[in-house]
Amino acid sequence: MTYGSFEFDRRGLLDCIIGQFRVSLDGFHGPNHWARVRHHALEVGRVVGADLAVVELFALLHDSQRRNEDDDPLHGARAAVYAVSLQGGYFVLEAARLEQLAFAIRHHSDGKRHKDPTIQTCWDADRLDLGRVGIQPSARYLSVEAAGFIDEAYRWSLASGEREDPELFEF
Ligand SMILES: [Fe+2]
Ligand SMILES: [Fe+2]
Repeated sequence: MTYGSFEFDRRGLLDCIIGQFRVSLDGFHGPNHWARVRHHALEVGRVVGADLAVVELFALLHDSQRRNEDDDPLHGARAAVYAVSLQGGYFVLEAARLEQLAFAIRHHSDGKRHKDPTIQTCWDADRLDLGRVGIQPSARYLSVEAAGFIDEAYRWSLASGEREDPELFEF
């Protein structure tokens, strides 16, 4: 597991992402969603031994290039390019980790599973927050470990927007 030694300018990165974000900050794909994905990613990631730096960056960046809240099939591809463009500014990842981040972002809405625990954790974390759009997460698309978080995540998604636990939204 690699995280403790990873330092990045989280606040600066978030400000940068938010500054260029084209859809509503209060919408389905805005910072509340990123915060819940981040929480799930770190929780699941710790269980499966994922690269926690990669999964956190995924949470903050994966929906950053949405142009609408509905049908935007290329938002993952655009966000992958965007993530790579930020390398060296707010964070520095070795080439292989950056590639893993870009892959996870590019393909996050393809509905697939992946054998790599870091990539799967990214996708798990996003899927665990499907309750916000009225969809109960399905274990079929999750790792065994992530499936254990479905009930908790679903309840939290349904309460999305209420910011009941402010700590989780503090980056
Ligand atoms: Fe997405
Ligand atoms: Fe998402």
